[in-house]
Amino acid sequence: MILTITMNPSVDISYPLAKFNINDINRVKDVRKTAGGKGLNVTRGIKYSGIDVLASGIVGGTTGEYIQKKLTENDIKYDFYITKQESRNCIAILHEGNQTEILESGPVLTEQDVIHFFNHYQTLLSQAKVITISGSLPQGFPVNFYVQLIEKANKNNIPVLLDSSGNMLHEVLISQNKPYLIKPNKSELQQILQVNIDEQNIDSLISAVNHPLLDNIAFVIVSLGKNGAFARCHGQYYRVTIPRINVVNPVGSGDVTLAGLAVGIHQNEPVEVMLKRAMTMGMLNTMESQTGFVNMQNYDGYFQQVVVQQVMDK
Ligand SMILES: Nc1ncnc2c1ncn2[C@@H]1O[C@H](COP(=O)(O)OP(=O)(O)OP(=O)(O)O)[C@@H](O)[C@H]1O
Ligand SMILES: [Mg+2]
Repeated sequence: MILTITMNPSVDISYPLAKFNINDINRVKDVRKTAGGKGLNVTRGIKYSGIDVLASGIVGGTTGEYIQKKLTENDIKYDFYITKQESRNCIAILHEGNQTEILESGPVLTEQDVIHFFNHYQTLLSQAKVITISGSLPQGFPVNFYVQLIEKANKNNIPVLLDSSGNMLHEVLISQNKPYLIKPNKSELQQILQVNIDEQNIDSLISAVNHPLLDNIAFVIVSLGKNGAFARCHGQYYRVTIPRINVVNPVGSGDVTLAGLAVGIHQNEPVEVMLKRAMTMGMLNTMESQTGFVNMQNYDGYFQQVVVQQVMDK
């Protein structure tokens, strides 16, 4: 089973409007509400791939109940730590080809929440073969909290796939407790390494994934949007190219890419197959209007078109 961690999930609300009237009333008919948060996108991606998955993290209040209700509707198993504070709403207004977002920062949690969640997490480890951790930490959590989660998982020999950025990722990279896999996109990697990456240049990519901050991480998968990905897997380098496709909404593609990677590792797939799976999931997500959704009926056709090339370091 794959355990997914979403520390600050949300109810994602989308309001499609023909025109967005500022300082006036906007009436919406087709309101769509989903259980949101990067880790829940990962969860859905794994579920659609047919692999057993359990979603955990922190929810609270009526928003938290709504998140759980939505997951139940999708037949997704979950086991959250329930806090007394209200989970957040995130609103996307879709208007005139634009997307205006209003994102609540979410609850400010207490030291007790930190301790209780950590204990809850430990009770789930015996069920997990692979763990994914996505997104940012709620307010009130120490910035090195992911280090603690990874340390516990490593002690239990459970590989952790981490998709985070900024300070939280930096804390992990400077610690002794390494995740098994990270999946930064290009701008996240540039930011964390403080280097410029030329994604058309193999030497630039190889030098980035060999940065000392990334030592002792078995899989470094750099996702490159429409340009596919570049990966260092157990010391081998891979350039992954994908076909040109019709993109509807790319948001959440990285999350379902992580879902593909988690499934590949869970199923002990050869690296090439795992990378093709991950890219196919990302592409399928870009073709849907709903963030973090994929239509698996198109899976095989796109999987065939992904090309994985091993490249040598000079
Ligand atoms: N415009 C695109 N065209 C084709 N495939 C895409 C496009 N954008 C994303 N993808 C697919 O999804 C994968 C992940 O996308 P990307 O690198 O944009 O992740 P990300 O920036 O982490 O996304 P997010 O954080 O919003 O989930 C890509 O490697 C690719 O397979
Ligand atoms: Mg991402």
